[in-house]
Amino acid sequence: MEITWLGHSAFIVKGMNSIVIDPFLTDNPSASTTPDKVSCDIVCVTHGHGDHVGDAVAIAKKNNAKILTMVELASHFEKAGCEAIGFNIGGSVTVGNTKVTMTQAVHSCGADAPGLEGGAGVPAGFVIESGKTVYHAGDTALFGDMALIGMLHPLDVALLPIGGFYTMDAVQAAKAVEMLKPKIAVPMHYNTWPPIKADPEQFKLEVSKVSKAQVRILKPGESFSI
Ligand code: NI
Ligand code: MN
Repeated sequence: MEITWLGHSAFIVKGMNSIVIDPFLTDNPSASTTPDKVSCDIVCVTHGHGDHVGDAVAIAKKNNAKILTMVELASHFEKAGCEAIGFNIGGSVTVGNTKVTMTQAVHSCGADAPGLEGGAGVPAGFVIESGKTVYHAGDTALFGDMALIGMLHPLDVALLPIGGFYTMDAVQAAKAVEMLKPKIAVPMHYNTWPPIKADPEQFKLEVSKVSKAQVRILKPGESFSI
């Protein structure tokens, strides 16, 4: 499996299928690519905030990709002309050879992307099983039931917000790693804008105190393989 950080919370995961998560590229000051260059089979959207919905509609349409997201948000994508599968926290969907399970996230959620105004259910994260197993936490505070996510799904990789202000910070995210027990932890959702300024080296240091997980600090556009 190859994982590429596109900046902010956007990743491309190439496992048994090609999955893009939270593809916020247009107007993202940290974006490493543009929507027209993204190819994928599946688009996962954690919640309705604009910095996560991003270019999901354009990317899904161009690739004939299915959008996997919260049931209320899925209806917005369907109205926008996309093929969306709406499910809910605790449930799983299999597309191709990839199984996606929706997990809890502790956050708020409107649907503030253009054309997606209105209710969007609640925010979520995803466990993506596509050869290897990756957890994308979405936007979330630290919560104790992350231990259950790690217990149910032995994780190869955890993608975790560390920027603070809207989500958990680097110290809290290290506690998340302690509970999730992934082999590799990757920080995200930091340094895109001044309010979420954070030092990924602090995250790495804090993780080393509580976990054997390897921390991979990526630059936008950078990939690694597992
Ligand atoms: Ni958000
Ligand atoms: Mn966000």
